[in-house]
Amino acid sequence: MTELTPLRHIPTANVFRKGDVFVLFGELFGRGYVNGLIDEARDAGMTIVGITVGRRDESGALRALTAEEHAEAEEKLGGRIINVPLMAGFDMDAPEGEQNPTELLAGVKLKTWQEDKLDWEKIERCREAGVRRFTTSAAQAMAEIDKLIPEGANVFFAHTMAGGIPKIKAFLAIANRIYKGRGERFESSRALLDSDLGKLILMNFDEVTANTLKYLLDASAPIRERVTKAGGEVRYTAYGYHGTEILIGGEYQWQTYTNYTQGYAKMRLESIAEAAWQQGIAATVFNCPEIRTNSSDIFVGVELSLFPLLTALKKEGGGEWAEKQWAICQELLGEGTSLQSLLDTIEKYNNDATSAQFRNFEAWPMDNTPALADVMIGTSEAITDLHKDRKALITDHLSSLVLEGAGPLMFHGASERIAPVLWLNHDIIARQLNALHP
Ligand SMILES: NC(=O)c1ccc[n+]([C@@H]2O[C@H](COP(=O)([O-])OP(=O)(O)OC[C@H]3O[C@@H](n4cnc5c(N)ncnc54)[C@H](O)[C@@H]3O)[C@@H](O)[C@H]2O)c1
Repeated sequence: MTELTPLRHIPTANVFRKGDVFVLFGELFGRGYVNGLIDEARDAGMTIVGITVGRRDESGALRALTAEEHAEAEEKLGGRIINVPLMAGFDMDAPEGEQNPTELLAGVKLKTWQEDKLDWEKIERCREAGVRRFTTSAAQAMAEIDKLIPEGANVFFAHTMAGGIPKIKAFLAIANRIYKGRGERFESSRALLDSDLGKLILMNFDEVTANTLKYLLDASAPIRERVTKAGGEVRYTAYGYHGTEILIGGEYQWQTYTNYTQGYAKMRLESIAEAAWQQGIAATVFNCPEIRTNSSDIFVGVELSLFPLLTALKKEGGGEWAEKQWAICQELLGEGTSLQSLLDTIEKYNNDATSAQFRNFEAWPMDNTPALADVMIGTSEAITDLHKDRKALITDHLSSLVLEGAGPLMFHGASERIAPVLWLNHDIIARQLNALHP
């Protein structure tokens, strides 16, 4: 089990400067966490380089970006993108002439998925095919990136990949019930994990969310060796999730979103960084707070832990700027609703006996229950309803603040070379934000 190792100071070390290279290992989305790191890299004058996961054509085959897609992605990133498809996972891979896992599971029905069995030898062959495809492409992409790194430059690799939900019709319906369903529509996460379908999904999460860090470390070994031989420095960061300390009852307490099915893969990600660290490679997994992004929007209720950040901003010495954040959030609420009353609702939710029993670090990631779904999804929906506009939520604003704070903490924290696994909790995020806005 991982020890809870929060970052408690604001790192200021910096090895990166103009002409150094920042490599994004994942694609960039508007609200994604990695925007915070990219802002830091850009401010430092680094050259930004990215990759693509590629796209699927109508037959499901993986392809590179078209010239138009490529140009658009490069413009969004503000840097070159190596056009070798790096889609991770094996849900669409199979040895020549065999069916891939998505095809093998095409017949799964909502009524029978818990009993449906998989041929694990076939699945293993698909996994091997997927890993072979990814590692071959990663080596090819890294050889291209190598050419873009000048002699004497330092390199920052930012891993951001996470995901792996296969596009199987029945599963999308099941996932909707597990992450969004309550009452009649509730579905047990344990039932999923005990099924063959669930076991396959966990394997795919491991591939996308965790093993890609190992493949990155391996594929970039020649770059690492060349750069360090020339006296340069190499850093790797990855985004983890393993719960977050937030203010509950005036104190920072660890809590988590439940059920975080990807949790097993995130723990594997931590152990990959730990193993690399043991070998002298500076790879750090930063376990980050819950925010709303393209990837997390499916988890209804994940955003509830964001609200107490407002209280943390004040507790950590926030002045005028912190007050302004309160005013911005108050402005998003409908007439007659005070921000304080919303924060009181969150405090009540966190102290509710049902949700409090999930604050168990050792037992993480715990299974969902109908009672938890009821109170968590119920509170989430009730709070959304208090806004003027369901498309302009307080959690959008707070998410952008968290990723702004996480950027410098990770950028300078990686430079300082502190530890293989670090938690960025609300205390340090608030302190960093206040320091950025004196
Ligand atoms: N949103 C949160 O609450 C939260 C909290 C802690 C950690 N994180 C982590 O932060 C990282 C970035 O996520 P985000 O929430 O900013 O969302 P995002 O949607 O912006 O980023 C997801 C990333 O995963 C990549 N990806 C998805 N499927 C992939 C596949 N099959 N193969 C290769 N790459 C794939 C995407 O290209 C993208 O770079 C992830 O590792 C995520 O787990 C998120």
